[in-house]
Amino acid sequence: MSTRPVGARRLGLLPPYLFAEIERKIAAKKAEGVDVISLGIGDPDTPTPELVVRRMQAAVADPGTHQYPSNRGREGFRDAVAGFYDRRFGVTLDPANEVIPVLGAKEAIANINLALLDPGDVALASDPGYPVYTMGPLLVGAEPVPMPLVPELGFQPDFSAIPADVLERARIMYLNYPNNPTGAVVEDDLFTRAVALAREHDFIIVHDNAYSEITYDGYVAPSFLATPGAADVGVEVFSLSKTYNMTGWRSGAVVGNPDVLGAYWQLKTNLDSGMFEAVQEASIAALDSDQASVAAMCEIYCRRRDILVDALRTIGLELTPPKGAIYVWARVPEGETSASFTEKVLEQAAVVISPGSAYGPSGEGFVRMSLTVPDDRLIEAAERIAGLVNA
Ligand SMILES: Cc1ncc(COP(=O)(O)O)c(C=O)c1O
Repeated sequence: MSTRPVGARRLGLLPPYLFAEIERKIAAKKAEGVDVISLGIGDPDTPTPELVVRRMQAAVADPGTHQYPSNRGREGFRDAVAGFYDRRFGVTLDPANEVIPVLGAKEAIANINLALLDPGDVALASDPGYPVYTMGPLLVGAEPVPMPLVPELGFQPDFSAIPADVLERARIMYLNYPNNPTGAVVEDDLFTRAVALAREHDFIIVHDNAYSEITYDGYVAPSFLATPGAADVGVEVFSLSKTYNMTGWRSGAVVGNPDVLGAYWQLKTNLDSGMFEAVQEASIAALDSDQASVAAMCEIYCRRRDILVDALRTIGLELTPPKGAIYVWARVPEGETSASFTEKVLEQAAVVISPGSAYGPSGEGFVRMSLTVPDDRLIEAAERIAGLVNA
C-alpha cells in the first residue's frame, strides 16, 4: 500500500469524534463485567407501534415494493406527509413539489449542504446543536459558524450578535426546536425574526423538526412553516425516527420551499435511489394513525424526565426541565468541565452521559442525559450519580 493517507483531505477537516473514546471505555468496562448504564444516545427503547410493523410486514410481502423507488417518493407517502402537516400544524403543502422523502433527517441535513453550499459559504449552526449542522458544511468546504444558544434567552440565538460579514456570507441557518441537546422550545417570535433576517440577507433556513411530537406539560410545538413567509425562505426536516420509535427504519421528509427541494432532489437522484417503498407504506400508516402511540410515548418520557430532573436537582445540578425532546441538559458541578464530569461519571458511577462540548463550544459546562432507558435503570443511574456528587 502507498504511504499516502487513505482518507481524503476533507476527512481531516472533521474534529476528532468525541464519542469514540467514550465508546472504547464502555466496551472495556463491559468486558470487565461492569454494569454500565448508557444515557449517552437518544435512541428510543420502546418498540415501533404495532400497526406500523404490521403494515411493513404486509408491504414487504408485496412485490410491488421491491423495485427501485423514485426519489420523489410514492404519491401516498407525499399525501400522508401533507395530510399530517395540515392536521397537525395547519400548514398546507403541495404534495407534488413541496414534499420529498428522506432516509432520515440526518441524511437530509448532511446532503442539503452539498445541494446548497459552495466553498467559502457560511452555514450558521445552532450551538450547542446536532453535530451534522457543522460536519455537513465542513465536508463540502463551507464554513460552519456557531450561533450560540443563550441560556438566559431560553436557549435561543441572539441574532444581533452575528457579525455583519458573517451574515453577508451566510447561505444556510440551522434552527431546531424542540431542541437537541437543551430541551428548549421556540419562544416568542424567534421564527418570525429568523424569516425577516433570511429575507434581508438572502439565506435559507433549515428547521430541523425531529422532535415536534415529543413535548411535555401541555406544550404543543409549531412547525416553522406555520410562520408567515417561512416557505419563501426555508424548509423543514421532519423525522419519523423519534416520533414513532423508528430510528432504524430511516424515514423522514423535507418539506417547504420548492426551489430548495428541487436542488436537493437533483442532488439525491445522483446519490441514492430513494426510500424502500415498504418503509414508505409503513410511514403512511404511522402518519395516518390516531397518534395514540405518540401520546403514550410522551407520557413515558415525561415520567422519566421528572424522575431525572428531581434527582439531579436534589444533588444541586442546575438545569431547566425540558419542555420537549428526550434529553435533560444540566450544568456540571462547580470545578468540573463537560469532559471531566463525563469521565468521572463513567469511571466512578459506570453511567454514560454526553459532554456538552460535543455539541459545540457553547455546550461547554453542560452535560446531556438521554431519557431513552427504562425507569428502573434511570433511577439507578440517578442514584449512582447522586452518590458520586455527594461524595
Ligand atoms: C436534532 C436532531 N436532528 C436529527 C436527528 C437525526 O434523525 P434521523 O434518525 O431522522 O436521521 C437527530 C437524532 O438524534 C436529532 O437529535
